[in-house]
Amino acid sequence: MAHERFENARCLVTGGAGFIGSNLVRRLLHLGAEVTVLDNLVTGKAANLPSHPRLTLVEADLATVYGLADLVRDARFVFHLAAQVGNLKSIEDATTDASTNVIGSIRLYQSCRDSQVEKVVYSSSSAMFGEAVSLPVAEDHPQRPESFYALSKMAGEHYARLAAELWSVPTVCLRYFNVYGLPMERNEYTGVISIFFEQLRRGQDLTIYGDGSQSRDFVYVSDVVEANLLAALGGSPGEAYNIGSGTRSTIGQLASTMIEITGRDVEVLHAPPRRGEVRDSQADISRAARALGYQPRVELAAGLGEMWNEIVGS
Ligand SMILES: NC(=O)c1ccc[n+]([C@@H]2O[C@H](COP(=O)([O-])OP(=O)(O)OC[C@H]3O[C@@H](n4cnc5c(N)ncnc54)[C@H](O)[C@@H]3O)[C@@H](O)[C@H]2O)c1
Repeated sequence: MAHERFENARCLVTGGAGFIGSNLVRRLLHLGAEVTVLDNLVTGKAANLPSHPRLTLVEADLATVYGLADLVRDARFVFHLAAQVGNLKSIEDATTDASTNVIGSIRLYQSCRDSQVEKVVYSSSSAMFGEAVSLPVAEDHPQRPESFYALSKMAGEHYARLAAELWSVPTVCLRYFNVYGLPMERNEYTGVISIFFEQLRRGQDLTIYGDGSQSRDFVYVSDVVEANLLAALGGSPGEAYNIGSGTRSTIGQLASTMIEITGRDVEVLHAPPRRGEVRDSQADISRAARALGYQPRVELAAGLGEMWNEIVGS
């Protein structure tokens, strides 16, 4: 893999102070890139970022910041992760959601018009599919967003595709499934893993909503970071690729694995199922494998083990 292409490459990372963004930034710095992070720190934290001579943090709102074209002008690669993340949050406040996820995305793509940017990698979401009618979910699976967040991420993708077609902006979209890793805030995607780890750390019983047979495709953050690098170097403009582990685990299996890893003597309790959650999810990652050479490397037990070591070590 031509990772050396990131050496001295100027990269702009929107949302770079967040969970996935900060992992991407660390990797880019490690590869020798010059990184500018644009983040309004609404959920991200400056403390997620290392202090580094090749890193600049611009604290600003993507939807309103002046001089976006100047930030983009010198960039070779743009990684677009800034978003209001969360289905429930978007149902409470659809305007902020659309402002960042739709208007912010359009502003970014428009700033990349007539620039030297080689690739804009947009972080999309499997939420756009809604409830799966068949598994695994391929890119052409019917799309039925069930929240304003899912709709806004889908809109970000459509704008990316049209920006490629109409403005020749080289956008590539990655549809993440359930990303986990550190630093992890409680959110609706990885909530279950962070809540279980928190309960296990305190020696408390784990609570599963429903019978635990609902399933998710959990993908480790380092695999998602790698997918971003691969898409920057090899993705086809206007295309979208699923990024997951390609496997699914039930929540019951997840709980058992986490109890085993942590060695805690706790019980699994069951509460009534929660409304508004999809039943099953699993990515078909064959397009990303073929087109990008994407191959997830971290199995769930290994990723959880790594997280637990960091949690108890810190
Ligand atoms: N975590 C997942 O499982 C998952 C799954 C699918 C897609 N995604 C997508 O991946 C991306 C990163 O998500 P994450 O999990 O790291 O979430 P996160 O909330 O940790 O990161 C989002 C970042 O964007 C910043 N931000 C929000 N609004 C902004 C604005 N208006 N201007 C500038 N910065 C702004 C936040 O401060 C934060 O640092 C998002 O685009 C999200 O939709 C995440």
